[in-house]
Amino acid sequence: MREPSSVGIEGNNNGVVSPPPPQALLERLKDYGQEDVFALWDELSHDEREYLVKDIESLDLSRIDRIIRCSLRSQGLPAAAIEPVPESSVSTVDERTHEERERWWKMGLKAISDGKLAVLLLSGGQGTRLGSSDPKGCFNIGLPSGKSLFHLQAERILCAQRLAAHATESSASSVQIHWYIMTSPFTDEATRKFFESHKFFGLEAEQVTFFQQGTIPCVSKDGRYIMETPYRVAKAPDGNGGVYSALKSTRLLEDMASKGIKYIDCYGVDNALVRVADPSFLGYFIDKGVAAAAKVVRKAYPQEKVGVFVRRGKGGPLTVVEYSELDPSLASAVNQGTGRLRFCWSNVCLHMFTLDFLNQVANSLEKDSIYHLAEKKIPSIHGYTMGLKLEQFVFDVFPYSPTTALFEILREEEFAPVKNANGSNYDTPDSAKLLVLRLHTRWVIAAGGFLTHSVPLYATGVEVSPLCSYAGENLEPICRGRTFHAPCEITF
Ligand code: UTP
Repeated sequence: MREPSSVGIEGNNNGVVSPPPPQALLERLKDYGQEDVFALWDELSHDEREYLVKDIESLDLSRIDRIIRCSLRSQGLPAAAIEPVPESSVSTVDERTHEERERWWKMGLKAISDGKLAVLLLSGGQGTRLGSSDPKGCFNIGLPSGKSLFHLQAERILCAQRLAAHATESSASSVQIHWYIMTSPFTDEATRKFFESHKFFGLEAEQVTFFQQGTIPCVSKDGRYIMETPYRVAKAPDGNGGVYSALKSTRLLEDMASKGIKYIDCYGVDNALVRVADPSFLGYFIDKGVAAAAKVVRKAYPQEKVGVFVRRGKGGPLTVVEYSELDPSLASAVNQGTGRLRFCWSNVCLHMFTLDFLNQVANSLEKDSIYHLAEKKIPSIHGYTMGLKLEQFVFDVFPYSPTTALFEILREEEFAPVKNANGSNYDTPDSAKLLVLRLHTRWVIAAGGFLTHSVPLYATGVEVSPLCSYAGENLEPICRGRTFHAPCEITF
């Protein structure tokens, strides 16, 4: 929808009796207590009125009303009792045997080679903390290669394809992992252009599908729409959990089924070490035969600001409790036997689902209509005003899963978050870059390589192109006996 050319209130109807707002639309708005959106109707120009009517017509008023009511009502309800995740639901790094690692890796590669895995990227966030106007995936975190987050992820997909083809003695071109990328109105155009201008980073253009998540009006505490301008309702993306309804409304679940996809690897864009399409995790998931799984890291200390997996009620489903909702005494409770935190499995937005489960869960989430309410500054006709953004989270589906398994990973190997701008204390492009360089330096040394460096090693290192190695494997022929001067990228 094009913005009207005149912006703001023009007072351009002086002396002319203005036509009233469309009656039917006004009546519908009244049904939901939202008629105030027409409060400044008399002061709008013709174009602005048309824009406003179209803006309202684009909203599913009854659905939004249901979401607002259910979400406001669920506020402040007592939290259900929780228990720690049972040990049997977690594969820990310490207990993972060599045989399991090998078996899961091979099972994962076989499933990839059979075309059963799709990768689903959540990339609709506005990345306000990072402070870049581009989508987060376009961000160059300062690695020697200068690669963006999208670029690193694309090359990891290419590498997983190649490993799968090799393991199953298939031709390289016959293995293709489909990449579904969720954008939002704030990131869509720039994301598509970035991929096009980088020739899809070596992937086939047809193996990438972009789709947009929905937006939802921002509301005041009493549930009324906030107006961003006199002729437009303020809206925000419906959270990364909007992925479920977006997959359904865009019919992409059917698209996946038609391609023979059975498993979906779902992750956030802002992790520089993300192992996209990880064969080990996929093999574990298939072996366990569960509907949903998550990679988890051990919570570093009791007050760490991360959500943790818990079991809801006695024998209930696994679910994520946010740090703000976890009672401090429970957050620091220690298991007497092991001396470790009882609630220790942190969620890092790395999930695996069966397609069957995604088909079921979209309906359940829609029926329950409970969104998280985040109090935020919303741009409005009165300047920035405090209001509520309604969001679903990608982990909201876990309570609906009949079976869930957790897979422990090591932070230093797979978790380098990019959340805040450089200069902040943690989770910055700089901290993520160093995590990548440190890990890759360890790989190179383990593979018999040597390093020279003119700045201290803690501040530099080498980068290994994902085209050479997915997780440190196959580096000996490239590294043994060679010396690399850090910082540099090792590639073919
Ligand atoms: P964050 O919760 O970190 O939000 O997203 P953000 O938008 O990236 O950053 P801030 O909070 O504005 O600074 C975690 C993941 O979920 C995606 C993000 O793109 C990121 O991959 N996300 C977030 C969506 O896809 N849609 C959303 O509506 C929100």
